[in-house]
Amino acid sequence: MSNNKRRILVTSALPYANGPIHLGHLVEYIQTDIWVRYQRLTGQECYYVCADDAHGTPIMLRADDDGITPEQLIERIGREHRADFADFLIAFDNYHTTHSPENRHYSELIYRRLNDHGHISRRTIKQAFDPEKGIFLPDRFIKGQCPRCGAVDQYGDNCEVCGSTYSPTDLINPVSAISGAAPIERESEHFFFRLGDFENMLKVWTGGEHLQPEVRNKLQEWFHVGLQDWDISRDAPYFGFEIPNEPGKYFYVWLDAPIGYMASFKHLCDRSDLSFDEFWSPDSSAELYHFIGKDILYFHALFWPAMLDGAGFRTPSAVFAHGFLTVNGHKMSKSRGTFITARTYLDQLNPEYLRYYFAAKLNNRVEDLDLNIDDFVLRVNSDLVGKVVNIASRCAGFITKRFDGYLATEVHDTPLYREFADAGVRIAQCYEDRQYSRGMREIMALADQANRYIADQKPWEIAKRVGEDRLLHDVCSMGLNLFRVLVTYLSPVIPATANKVEAFLDCDIVTPGGWNAIQRPLTNHRINPFKHLLRRVENTQVEAMIETSKQTGTIAAKAGPLVADPIAASISIDEFNKVDLRIARITKAERVEGADKLLKLSLDLGGENRTVFAGIKSAYPPEDLAGRYTVVVANLAPRKMRFGVSEGMVLAAGPGGKDLWLLSPDPGAQPGMRVK
Ligand code: 2FM
Ligand code: ZN
Repeated sequence: MSNNKRRILVTSALPYANGPIHLGHLVEYIQTDIWVRYQRLTGQECYYVCADDAHGTPIMLRADDDGITPEQLIERIGREHRADFADFLIAFDNYHTTHSPENRHYSELIYRRLNDHGHISRRTIKQAFDPEKGIFLPDRFIKGQCPRCGAVDQYGDNCEVCGSTYSPTDLINPVSAISGAAPIERESEHFFFRLGDFENMLKVWTGGEHLQPEVRNKLQEWFHVGLQDWDISRDAPYFGFEIPNEPGKYFYVWLDAPIGYMASFKHLCDRSDLSFDEFWSPDSSAELYHFIGKDILYFHALFWPAMLDGAGFRTPSAVFAHGFLTVNGHKMSKSRGTFITARTYLDQLNPEYLRYYFAAKLNNRVEDLDLNIDDFVLRVNSDLVGKVVNIASRCAGFITKRFDGYLATEVHDTPLYREFADAGVRIAQCYEDRQYSRGMREIMALADQANRYIADQKPWEIAKRVGEDRLLHDVCSMGLNLFRVLVTYLSPVIPATANKVEAFLDCDIVTPGGWNAIQRPLTNHRINPFKHLLRRVENTQVEAMIETSKQTGTIAAKAGPLVADPIAASISIDEFNKVDLRIARITKAERVEGADKLLKLSLDLGGENRTVFAGIKSAYPPEDLAGRYTVVVANLAPRKMRFGVSEGMVLAAGPGGKDLWLLSPDPGAQPGMRVK
């Protein structure tokens, strides 16, 4: 191994400690873990740390709801997260929590240094306050009627129906989503990080090679809009760290979250002989990489480097952003059973299948990634089982039975072996550049070549011929040598299988040095009897996973949103009779260009046709809707919306987003019938 090892510290974003890890999260942890394993395999000194993101209002409220303390909640969720990651073979060197003494120390230190250098300002702001619960309300905990189109139950600062954005204080009849009480405005003093002080530094930093090209472009827009001060304090009650000497004021969760990267690393240093300063001092020669999702770029590409710079620490070598996961082309959905938790997956399927599938689709751009369930089954079975594992199962038996477990003394097809060994340089570059999908294609092309070699040689026929033992020995040994190279290349992706193969072939694969060891083929080397490596994915397993996800999704939905909607004030029967509800048949459902949440529905009301814009896109793919019957408010005054005129409203239940259920009549009801 070379002496000039790179020293690398790698992080993935810290998951919130108020919910389970799901397949959407796993894109990132798998992407990072593959990169880290690759670095270690090629002899670099690479550390991978992470932690639970344990602070903030949602965690405080969730604990309250469950009747436990936030500490109890984050302890339980932390345990579940660790188990999920371990079972997905995510090889952290340390997994900590942001609610830790190390994190308190660095949060206070960074804040003090920023404050001492004049980068913190204070001013009094007005905010919505829940008088019943006694807390300030984050935007998403306020709901009311849209000031523009009148749609009810709109959360925060944008309307799901008409798409307009506003301040939550503009909502008509706003209520706290926690208590149902009308919020009042209350003043309080907040602390702000003066991001603008770092404009020059950030322009230089973001202009360098620290970000993906498409992210650099996005940042230009942000500079153009101007760097705003960032509100870093929250008032009690809050679950977090109190700001030193400022009773009742807490650090906003997003201030101490990225500091959690440092804190987790410090926790590791304290239990080993690693030096914290060698990785975090401004003159550090170590590399620092953050893998994140595209939604948290602002924090990692602006706030975080500015905070580090302002507090006298080194800045990241690079931030790598990835896109979101879709399942079968749509956002993950509880009702469709595609909101799949890590545990539900693990109860049915091998984690390496998903690791391979994600690897086969990941590149280094900020693109969304689709998990197509049918494609997943096909790809895993044809590539991992059909192309790779099969090579070993076709060759190993002969070596054990006929040659006492010894591989031949010579390589049967040296040029082919060289081709395999030489491909390592290209494949390594793919891992280094996070072009995993390209890497997997290269590896599978080699696997095809190995299979062609075996199909041409036909060891099972040679075995039947008398006097051809030597050839049989050479061919099967060659097959196993090619297999060893393939598994070495795949080992960052399927480390558990690689481990088994290491034991089977009795050679270094996942052990550091394995990557270079393939330069020399295994000859006159004793292997162990072949044991089963990887089973095919069965459709029944996948179906069971989706079914369980559907059921847990429904249970969660039945439990309702954070607080059930309060029943509205009573109305008279006359008032109710004014509402003309009709059965409608959806004849066509279309996406609306430029609208995130709306679908354009063409309705048949028994001879009369209507166009209705409905905010149900997040829950229904349009192609599922044509032909479906539903209920429409037929005498709602037509409303002019950004995308056209809506002539009525379809009825759906649920809190919104993915959790929305369109009302449908029992069979027999006909379009146009009145609903009473
Ligand atoms: O978006 C999230 O899920 C955050 N919990 C990520 C935090 S990453 C880092 F900054 F801590
Ligand atoms: Zn609206």
